[in-house]
Amino acid sequence: MLQRAEKVQSTPTKPPREHEKMPGIRVFLYFGLVAVLPVLCYPHTPCTLTQKTAICNNLQLSSVPSNLPQQIEELFLNQNIISKLQNGCLSSYPFLRTLSCANCYLKAVDVQVFSRSHWIETLNFASNELHNDYKLLSQALGLLTNLRFLDFSANGLTEDMVSELLHNLTSLEFLDLSRNALLRLDEYTFQDLHQLKELNLERNNLFEIDGAFDKLKKLRRLNLAFNSLPCLVKFDMTQLVVLNASHNLIEWFITNQDITDTFELETLDLTDNRLLYFPFLPTYNRIKTLLLPNNHIGFYSHLSQNTSLNWTNTIEFYNLGGNASNVTAELWNDDLYGDISSVEFLDLSVNQVRYFPQGFLQKMPHLYWLRMRSNCLESLNLTGDYLPVTVYELDVSNNRLTELHAHSSSVSELNNLTHLNLSLNNIQKLPPRLFTTLPRLSFVDLSYNTVGMCHPKELPNLNSSACALWTPLPSLKQLHIAGCNLINIPPSAFDGTQLTHLDLSHNPDLHFSQDCLSGLSGTLQHLGLSNTGLQDFNFSPFRQLKSLNISKNSISELPASLMTLNLKLLDLRDNRLPTIKPEHATVLAKRVQIVYMNGNYFNCCQLEWYRTFEESKILHVADLLEITCVDLHQQRKKAGVFDSVLCGGKSREESIFWYILLFLSVGVSMVGVSVIYFLTFRPRLLPRVIKKKCWKPTTY
Ligand SMILES: *[C@@H]1O[C@H](CO)[C@@H](O)[C@H](O)[C@H]1NC(C)=O
Ligand SMILES: *[C@@H]1O[C@H](CO)[C@@H](O)[C@H](O)[C@H]1NC(C)=O
Ligand SMILES: *[C@@H]1O[C@H](CO)[C@@H](O)[C@H](O)[C@H]1NC(C)=O
Ligand SMILES: *[C@@H]1O[C@H](CO)[C@@H](O)[C@H](O)[C@H]1NC(C)=O
Ligand SMILES: *[C@@H]1O[C@H](CO)[C@@H](O)[C@H](O)[C@H]1NC(C)=O
Ligand SMILES: *[C@@H]1O[C@H](CO)[C@@H](O)[C@H](O)[C@H]1NC(C)=O
Ligand SMILES: *[C@@H]1O[C@H](CO)[C@@H](O)[C@H](O)[C@H]1NC(C)=O
Ligand SMILES: *[C@@H]1O[C@H](CO)[C@@H](O)[C@H](O)[C@H]1NC(C)=O
Ligand SMILES: *[C@@H]1O[C@H](CO)[C@@H](O)[C@H](O)[C@H]1NC(C)=O
Repeated sequence: MLQRAEKVQSTPTKPPREHEKMPGIRVFLYFGLVAVLPVLCYPHTPCTLTQKTAICNNLQLSSVPSNLPQQIEELFLNQNIISKLQNGCLSSYPFLRTLSCANCYLKAVDVQVFSRSHWIETLNFASNELHNDYKLLSQALGLLTNLRFLDFSANGLTEDMVSELLHNLTSLEFLDLSRNALLRLDEYTFQDLHQLKELNLERNNLFEIDGAFDKLKKLRRLNLAFNSLPCLVKFDMTQLVVLNASHNLIEWFITNQDITDTFELETLDLTDNRLLYFPFLPTYNRIKTLLLPNNHIGFYSHLSQNTSLNWTNTIEFYNLGGNASNVTAELWNDDLYGDISSVEFLDLSVNQVRYFPQGFLQKMPHLYWLRMRSNCLESLNLTGDYLPVTVYELDVSNNRLTELHAHSSSVSELNNLTHLNLSLNNIQKLPPRLFTTLPRLSFVDLSYNTVGMCHPKELPNLNSSACALWTPLPSLKQLHIAGCNLINIPPSAFDGTQLTHLDLSHNPDLHFSQDCLSGLSGTLQHLGLSNTGLQDFNFSPFRQLKSLNISKNSISELPASLMTLNLKLLDLRDNRLPTIKPEHATVLAKRVQIVYMNGNYFNCCQLEWYRTFEESKILHVADLLEITCVDLHQQRKKAGVFDSVLCGGKSREESIFWYILLFLSVGVSMVGVSVIYFLTFRPRLLPRVIKKKCWKPTTY
């Protein structure tokens, strides 16, 4: 008994099922225990009790435990099988503020269940089956006059059930209705929720919202993500701070242009919709974060100048009630986007933007992040006239840029530009000193363009050339120039930089000499030389190197200089290595943490390194099981299961010798045995042979 009581305190997870069925006995034992050991005054319960909280999650309970301390304020019953909350089951806990019964297969709640629970503020009924008996629940909720947080997510609720359930819940501040079956919201759905601050409607099937939020004057955060809304028009929620309407089918976002108040909106998320136009934002707002990736947004002023196109300027929107509302928008005029002056983060990745309208970017004087990945931009000026001087991160990767422009002067206004991703364009021309004029530039990805590296001493045309200069640029930390058709790296091309990452991969015609990376020996930590035609290189000056990628080259012998480094990652895939010398393998196995080896011409009969690596506690061969080797018959075999007995050489001769010896001794002893056998049984065998030979039928 005592033992069990101690167990309850230390590991309270396992419910003592047999006691559960015999409450009388349990009470008796409990009193006995208190008499003996007054210190253990907790009731006998499988729940974890801390101060005023009882945590009874995942205990296969089928009802609310009745023996918890009366003063508890928080009760967690998640992941049990309480299909019904019966009258009186909470009456012993009059101070309850939080009741959480998520994932409980809860179907019904008795009307009077909260009759003594006036203080409940937080009710979590997520992931249950409350659609079954919502009418009783609705009456029960009416008693909770202090309710502030309510989670009804994933309960199969329809809009009719919801409007009944929420009736009179005037104190509610946070409501979660995500993952239900709502299709349509109207002005009655939330009509009593005057205090509501946050509403989550994510992952329903909403396709229409008609005046549903009109009464929610305090609503600050609204989540409509993952529904089927076709448009958000006449948007007039001036008090809203965060609107998440991502992952819908929205073609139009149009603010009610008649409102001249300042909208409090700070975050607008319209990710993954069907917008064709930049959203029609409020005339006055505080939007800082504007997320518009994965739409079809473009600018169309080039069409408005075409008088031969006689296109309409108005759009009509209908709802199910048959009410039409006209929204007149200057569709072909690029001035239509409202106020963007406080935007700090604009994400337009994966859209159809070919150009920015005149002055568009300059209207955002606080813009720090501009993400334009995968659009159709054709030109870009890295100047303070074109981009706001505050820009910190600019991603214009995967566009159609062929040329970069900048001022010819050596001073740039873009003093804050730190991250610049220009990869996957077709840039062929740029001012050679462009990057060196950006004083905070630390991260550049120029991969997959056709830009070479200029010789610092022989600078071509200052305005436009096919090469870029990277020195002096003391702020630069990461440079990615993979796939740029580089032919050579001029000597001292990186002098005066502090590069820690350099990616030169996929420049197969690159000829680089030992001294071209010389400026980097003190700082370089990550070097990518995959597919660069590399054969041999002395890495020993690069003492800081942590990761080296020399995959897809023609390396036939591991450079001895690698043994002097403290590498953590080494990628040797797809080379021509026949083996790794045992002394090298021992060094690597003690230092490197991750190594990639597959795709070489390893000799199956020189795999000592494989065992060394396999046994190492430090080194992890990421592709150990895939490594193949070539055997004596030029066949590829899995190195891990190759049997070295099949190899020639000294070991094989030895084994044949032993085979022969074994064969001989077996043979000799068999002969000996047969001789003895023959000699021993000869007298008996002999007559029989004679008898057989001479036997003749008798005539008797
Ligand atoms: C809501 O409150 C009103 C007035 O307090 C009351 O008459 C009505 O019965 C309540 N409705 C529900 C569903 O509780
Ligand atoms: C909007 O909702 C989606 C889905 O829950 C989420 O991934 C995204 O982060 C939200 N956006 C913002 C700005 O919080
Ligand atoms: C105007 O639009 C017509 C029809 O699409 C097109 O043929 C014409 O080239 C356009 N003109 C200009 C100036 O863009
Ligand atoms: C434009 O369309 C309107 C009606 O659709 C027509 O009355 C008008 O003549 C058209 N104008 C031109 C220039 O085609
Ligand atoms: C919307 O505008 C069109 C064209 O101006 C007009 O014919 C229609 O009656 C208007 N509809 C409403 C509901 O105002
Ligand atoms: C970019 O700069 C070039 C040359 O300075 C200029 O001709 C062009 O109009 C500028 N483009 C934009 C969009 O500002
Ligand atoms: C530079 O960008 C950062 C964003 O990380 C911002 O906090 C900072 O204020 C900007 N500085 C200037 C001078 O604009
Ligand atoms: C630059 O953008 C490309 C394409 O969007 C992306 O794949 C790459 O990871 C980015 N570069 C870096 C270093 O993040
Ligand atoms: C090495 O570089 C190649 C080519 O860029 C890349 O595919 C591979 O993932 C890199 N290896 C590691 C371990 O990152």
